[in-house]
Amino acid sequence: MSSINTLKKQILSQGELPNHIAIIMDGNGRWAKKRGLPRTVGHKYGVKAVKKVVRAAGEIGIKYLTLYTFSTENWKRPKKEVSAIMNLLYETTRRELNELLENNVRLITTGDIEALSPRRRKMLKEAIALTANDTGLTLNLALNYSGRFEILQAVKNIAVDYAKGAFKIDDIDGELFSSYLQTNGLPDPDLLIRTSGEMRISNFLLWQTSYTEMYITDVLWPDFDEKEFYRAIIDFQGRERRFGRVKRAKKSKGT
Ligand code: IPE
Ligand code: IPE
Ligand code: MG
Repeated sequence: MSSINTLKKQILSQGELPNHIAIIMDGNGRWAKKRGLPRTVGHKYGVKAVKKVVRAAGEIGIKYLTLYTFSTENWKRPKKEVSAIMNLLYETTRRELNELLENNVRLITTGDIEALSPRRRKMLKEAIALTANDTGLTLNLALNYSGRFEILQAVKNIAVDYAKGAFKIDDIDGELFSSYLQTNGLPDPDLLIRTSGEMRISNFLLWQTSYTEMYITDVLWPDFDEKEFYRAIIDFQGRERRFGRVKRAKKSKGT
């Protein structure tokens, strides 16, 4: 079994790093169920995995890490579970703020955080403001996020600005559209990791993942750690991204 350091060295010597990694952190409930524990305990252990992955990303110099923390559909879960997740989010941000600052991590969110309770929203906004000048890893929490909602909002706002004469129909291209998304300013993810084996996108970054490499592992999120994270990156580094083109021919000698 390779150690964390061996994997880290392999990544750094092997090739390009993904600039932006997005993760669908799934399987907390199943992890708890396997142990005869309530689902909320699974979420608690999920936070431990978050801490490991954030640290591991910062250590190798990843620029952007987006974590799918709560989808708009997740409000449909039992009230108790929803409030347990929200409390964990609040407590973790409060507790880890100093560590984020020490490690030069900039915290941002994507999604509608206005729907959170005032106390939780205030805490998040404070953490975002306090880390705003950090220049290391950008940690983006997708919170109360829906890919379809984000696209619909963009369409509405584009329509409003078009009606005001801000641009012509033909000016509406991919770049303009992206600038109306909540992820404006972030590069599209290069690598999307989903834990717990589900083969679906679950309303995550629908527009942004059009050419993202996907890595799906059966490991449940609370069991995901630095090694699993680095293994996903090594797998990514071995891929050939073609973006619709054909395989690039190898240069032959003398040509
Ligand atoms: C992911 O784990 C955490 C959130 C969606 C907030 P789940 O809670 O979805 O775990 P499973 O999929 O039920 O195992
Ligand atoms: C996706 O996981 C949302 C988050 C990880 C926050 P879900 O567990 O909600 O997704 P489905 O319901 O299995 O598609
Ligand atoms: Mg799930």
